[in-house]
Amino acid sequence: MVGKNLKTILEAAIKIEEQSYMLYRMAQGKVKYASSKKFLEELAQEEVKHKEKLMAILENKKKLSELGLLVNKIQDLKIVDVMKDTSISEDVDYQRILVYAAKREKVTYDYYKSLALGLEGTEVGGLFSRLAQEELSHKNKLELEYDEYILKEN
Ligand SMILES: [Fe+2]
Ligand SMILES: [Fe+2]
Repeated sequence: MVGKNLKTILEAAIKIEEQSYMLYRMAQGKVKYASSKKFLEELAQEEVKHKEKLMAILENKKKLSELGLLVNKIQDLKIVDVMKDTSISEDVDYQRILVYAAKREKVTYDYYKSLALGLEGTEVGGLFSRLAQEELSHKNKLELEYDEYILKEN
């Protein structure tokens, strides 16, 4: 059943968003600067919004079945394995978390970008395209935060 593949894709993306949210929440406990805590909170809230947008499509059964046929194009993507080997232990410092998170945002960007291409011309494709751009902006913001943090600490 083809509709099932899109469901799998959406569920994997929702999982990515949940993990991103938890990462930024965890990082809040690692940093003493109020500006950094605020920055992390903003990122966490954006990941929540991403999850909500994905959930809305997942819950729309009619939309899912309409899109099911298009998913053949993206079947070769390694859907579930996308975030393999990217776990981080909770005892790392903020600096390491920022590097890890920036890399993770890049991986997410690449993944969403490929989904957007595979689903081009559909509403879900458009959503993944917008999400990809936002993940890329998260990566850029994390790199700026890294630079600012290093300046404050040294
Ligand atoms: Fe996200
Ligand atoms: Fe993100």
